[in-house]
Amino acid sequence: AEVKKIAVIAGDGIGPEVVAEAEKVLKRTEEVFGLRFELEHGLFGGIAIDQKGTPLPQETLEICQKADAVLLGAVGGPKWDNNSAALRPETGLLGIRKALGLFSNIRPATVFDCLKDASTLKPEVLDGTDLIVVRELTGGIYFGEKFRRETENGTEAVDTCVYNVKEIERIARQGFEIAMTRSKRLASVDKANVLETSRLWRETVIKLHAEYPEVELEHILVDNCAMQLLRRPSSFDVIVTENMFGDILSDEAAMLTGSIGMLSSASLGEGAFGLYEPVHGSAPDIAGQGISNPIATILSVALMFRLTFGYHKEAEAIERAVKEVLDAGHRTGDIAVDKSKAIGTTAMGDLIVAAIR
Ligand code: NAD
Ligand code: IPM
Ligand code: MN
Repeated sequence: AEVKKIAVIAGDGIGPEVVAEAEKVLKRTEEVFGLRFELEHGLFGGIAIDQKGTPLPQETLEICQKADAVLLGAVGGPKWDNNSAALRPETGLLGIRKALGLFSNIRPATVFDCLKDASTLKPEVLDGTDLIVVRELTGGIYFGEKFRRETENGTEAVDTCVYNVKEIERIARQGFEIAMTRSKRLASVDKANVLETSRLWRETVIKLHAEYPEVELEHILVDNCAMQLLRRPSSFDVIVTENMFGDILSDEAAMLTGSIGMLSSASLGEGAFGLYEPVHGSAPDIAGQGISNPIATILSVALMFRLTFGYHKEAEAIERAVKEVLDAGHRTGDIAVDKSKAIGTTAMGDLIVAAIR
């Protein structure tokens, strides 16, 4: 097979632990399916601040730009939490998304039947839940002007939220396109009763709907959506929303699957290039203990295969292996009902690797 270049930026906390398991999966697919990967590792996040004085060193960005896809772990941790914005790991994450033009963040939340007991919700509420959050990733309040100023009431902080029609249209189009490949239902989430950016969002989505008459479009306010996600999760299919709403709703949706350790993601731009990472963070509370769940990162590799490389049967083999291992009752602590029987990160990775064929 053609050699595919993958930039690997493991980051901080549990990032390196879960990425190590995903790398084992890549290696296994080389052996089983004859795929060929060239991995190049780069420093990123807190560890890059410590070693290079910046969360996103130029050489790391170049490794990513030269690659066909990026595999990312997670960044951040208490060590850097009081740093100024420029020296925060999270700033590096926003920087890489922006620099690579990755405006579209796909976050599937699929409920594995055997994990219904791992969720905090009642099993019957979860029946048939299989949704995708399509999150705008390079605009909104994350990227608007931010500053502080002194006033007679003390220091004032300002974050601005900006969206233009082009930004809204391209992410809404993604939502419609993905809905067309599924059940043709799209929920557009906004706060159009309060925010001007949301009113422009809704107008733009309504206009674009004319190009997708087969899609059943629902507009839903973000507060109501947060509630309905817990009340009737299976009624959602594709959810398209702006940057910060998508961040919050996807963590909420994670609990439908049992754990944030299950949620994979793809960040895409105009072409096939993509960055793949778990939705969770660096989990400083469990880092270094070898107990984190590597499945979100492993499933992100499956997304990479499907969306960037077009390796469909290999992507299915990874997903099938995950399902088989879960069906056999193996659990990391976050998804275990009986925590005393939980297995560790590498044991889970090994079982999944062995099940890929
Ligand atoms: P988090 O997602 O790191 O952790 C939230 C909770 O979920 C913790 O209790 C953690 O132990 C648990 N958890 C997360 N992933 C898990 C896994 N794979 N297996 C088992 N349990 C898991 O969120 P947080 O605690 O709010 O943030 C911690 C740090 O991570 C912060 O510095 C934050 O900025 C950063 N962060 C980074 C990313 C990213 O790199 N994409 C995403 C979110 C948060
Ligand atoms: C995520 C994270 C990031 C975000 C942070 C770490 C900047 O929470 O990828 O969901 O808010 O986008
Ligand atoms: Mn998040």
